[in-house]
Amino acid sequence: MVHAIEAYTSKFQKNMLSDTLAREALKLLSQNIRRVVEDGNDRDARMSMLLGSLLAGMAFTNSPCAAVHALAYPIGSHFHVPHGLSNSLMLPHVLRFNREHAAAAEMYKELTPLVFPTLSAVQGTDVNVMADGFYQLALDLQIPTRLPEVGIQSKDLHLLATQAMKVDRLMPNNPREVKFEDALELYSQAYNC
Ligand SMILES: [Fe+2]
Repeated sequence: MVHAIEAYTSKFQKNMLSDTLAREALKLLSQNIRRVVEDGNDRDARMSMLLGSLLAGMAFTNSPCAAVHALAYPIGSHFHVPHGLSNSLMLPHVLRFNREHAAAAEMYKELTPLVFPTLSAVQGTDVNVMADGFYQLALDLQIPTRLPEVGIQSKDLHLLATQAMKVDRLMPNNPREVKFEDALELYSQAYNC
């Protein structure tokens, strides 16, 4: 899901193909993620997750990932946190950070109803609704939502921010520029939330 979202809001190479792939991926993934966790033998749901993952992979191949991934990489490399989980830990905070970028905020409004149709029908399409939705989804799926839960201490945040700023293959693709102080703040939010 992070692959699709970051492809959809990528700063330089977003295009009609990556947008289409990202939207279809998000529909499949959001409709099936709870089903597969509840019942790992649900083969239809698993097939939809695989297809969604494939489409999201094709999306970010055409329109590369950005700050969520750049911030997730040091969490994985220094604390041996799985890739998907490290992305999930940072996603809600980067969404809220990017909300301040007007064009990104509009793009997220297009995605929120696809990802959380029931929630957005009640609460609207603002990116905060999507950020809250992902945080709640992680809680519901019983995966960690805060950095201390994966062994990260407050003294580690400076190192993480320093390392994230070196991911210059991805960080510049973020719709809103991320400076060192921003990276540190984003890690602080993921630590304290
Ligand atoms: Fe990834």
